[in-house]
Amino acid sequence: MVVSARQDQRQADAVILVGGRGTRLRPLTIGTPKPMLPTANAPFLQHLLARIQAAGITHVVLSTSFKAEVFEEYFGDGADLGLEIEYVVEETALGTGGGIRNVYDKLRFDTAMVFNGDVLSGMDLGGILDAHAAKDADVTMHLLNVADPRAFGCVPTDGDGRVSAFLEKVEDPPTNQINAGCYVFKREVIATIPENRVVSVERETFPRLLEDGARIFGHVDNSYWRDMGRPEDFVRGSSDIVRGIAPSPLLTGRTGESIVDPSAGVAGGVLLLSGTSVGRGTEIGAGCRIDGTVIFDGVTIEPGAVISNSIIASGAHIGANAHIENCVVGEGATIGARCELQSGMRVFPGVNIPDAGIRFSSDA
Ligand code: GTP
Repeated sequence: MVVSARQDQRQADAVILVGGRGTRLRPLTIGTPKPMLPTANAPFLQHLLARIQAAGITHVVLSTSFKAEVFEEYFGDGADLGLEIEYVVEETALGTGGGIRNVYDKLRFDTAMVFNGDVLSGMDLGGILDAHAAKDADVTMHLLNVADPRAFGCVPTDGDGRVSAFLEKVEDPPTNQINAGCYVFKREVIATIPENRVVSVERETFPRLLEDGARIFGHVDNSYWRDMGRPEDFVRGSSDIVRGIAPSPLLTGRTGESIVDPSAGVAGGVLLLSGTSVGRGTEIGAGCRIDGTVIFDGVTIEPGAVISNSIIASGAHIGANAHIENCVVGEGATIGARCELQSGMRVFPGVNIPDAGIRFSSDA
């Protein structure tokens, strides 16, 4: 089916890489792929899909592997989002480059915009597409200036914006421009990626293209950007969407200190602050204080609990007066009354910590 042409429609496919295992977010990603984790009360991926739709791109191909079926079950053909979504499944994960190559047969246009499915960004999608066309580039990469580029792929460019090298995680980077994980490809360039084997687009494809003299350009856009791969970034990214610091068309006109699903029950005197989100059917007892926290669906929080900068997965039960800070509580776990959890603790799904079972205070 060909989507009817709108005046503002972009002649480009969107390809989203969502096949990773999300190991850094375990145990949240044991049963749910990272892009489907609730973020500001919608699957993370839905925020990106809404931005793609708002930019006038309507054909989206999801490059899936780990828990592939979850995506199609939720988004179907994409019509509800004003999109046409197709799915390509890797039997065994092919890596980022292999995942891009694997969707080649689904592409409809000469231009494909490829997204890492775990980056929260406010970049101007139309801006990078225009830059790509203006330079007649083979590949245009979104680049970002960061204070400390050592932990990232560093990408120097010449005066015309043409990429001169790809430097992976070097100690003394010559520039603070990093690869932000969004690329515009000429379709024919995707055909040159080897088929049916694991390929890293960052470590293999881009250096090879550069060696072959391909026209690779950087497009610097320093809008909001966050890789959602670690729990502390996930929590922060979700809070930033709720507060309107990170843009999402899903929350237009609804940003603030918190977002609460209409089916949730919040008792009197509860403080929901710093971008907290409360999912479907969750119940929060009187006098709780919850800061910068992502609460999934069907969670019960007893009165007087104090929670900050944490992720509480579906069906978890938090006992009265528990204190939880910088933690991940897995699906269906029970944290007893008066427990104190802090400093990056991760409670695995179904684990039951008895009342006052963990305490860090001096009178414990
Ligand atoms: P970690 O295991 O925590 O590093 O997370 P990850 O598996 O998501 O890896 P990473 O953050 O490096 O991946 C960047 C993006 O590429 C994410 O959106 C992944 O879903 C996606 N991705 C990673 N590996 C593959 C793959 O083999 N195939 C496909 N289709 N996508 C992948």
